[in-house]
Amino acid sequence: MKLSTKHLLGIKDLTVEDVNLFLDTAAQFKEVLQRPVKKVPSLRDVTIVNLFFENSTRTRISFELAEKRLSADTINFTASGSSVSKGETLLDTVNNILSMKVDMVVMRHSASGAPHFLAQHIPAAIVNAGDGVNEHPTQGLLDAFSIKEKMGTLKGVKVAIIGDIMHSRVAMSNIYLLKKMGTEITVCGPPTLIPKYLKEAFDVNVSYNLTQTLNWCDVANVLRIQLERQNQVLFSSLREYNLSYGISRRLLESLNKDIVIMHPGPINRGVELDSDVADSGQSIILQQVENGVAVRMAVLYLLSNKNN
Ligand code: NCD
Repeated sequence: MKLSTKHLLGIKDLTVEDVNLFLDTAAQFKEVLQRPVKKVPSLRDVTIVNLFFENSTRTRISFELAEKRLSADTINFTASGSSVSKGETLLDTVNNILSMKVDMVVMRHSASGAPHFLAQHIPAAIVNAGDGVNEHPTQGLLDAFSIKEKMGTLKGVKVAIIGDIMHSRVAMSNIYLLKKMGTEITVCGPPTLIPKYLKEAFDVNVSYNLTQTLNWCDVANVLRIQLERQNQVLFSSLREYNLSYGISRRLLESLNKDIVIMHPGPINRGVELDSDVADSGQSIILQQVENGVAVRMAVLYLLSNKNN
């Protein structure tokens, strides 16, 4: 099996076969990660640069670890402390790095479309680690992997995506992916944080009522309020957001079933999720982080073309 794409820029343009290949390969790498020796030689002669123009904890560490587990050579670049602050363009920065014979680029950037732009100008394979409010494809894949692992399938599972949909690249990659795989989706949050075009354009349910949505779903993927991306007031206060859309233990106990709680991190405890929910047995938040390494190993391995 081969991917239909040279880069992973987003979930939008992947085929169902691509998604299945990523998820099946990730399952094999997850097995490797359970062994006493967690390392394979698959990318021994491959050099990967991690270009992070925007803050990251989980995603950056997860990619680095995936690369090390595959025996790749890696270089880490963070925008602060680089010549970007001296006015160097994105293309110049990347071309300088590539002239040192780098095979793959993992990039996070605050501008939507930055990795798509690079893909038109450089020969290396590019993995999008989050671009602006557009997509975060490896998060979409690891979320799908985690849902499938927990529920046994993606088809027909009822997934609620809750919170700041408008500013969330995680929501977009989840919606593209889960729609392809036959999952039922409801997005839920305050009307000001859900784009008006979403229902028509993506054929998802939209709800402004948290309790109804939680009673409907099998899995709730809860998102962070992205205050850094909001330049206008879209809800009155974090406290009021918590009262209307925050998930508390009391709310979960009032439901007619046990649902699975997910969150891509970083969590704003006491805003979208209360601590006793985030840390409860219903939460698979840390399993998502664990699965992220296996999923990123699969992405890097498949895009490196070493499987031919
Ligand atoms: C997300 C991101 O950066 O898009 N986090 C992540 O990669 N795990 C979500 C967020 O910042 O809220």
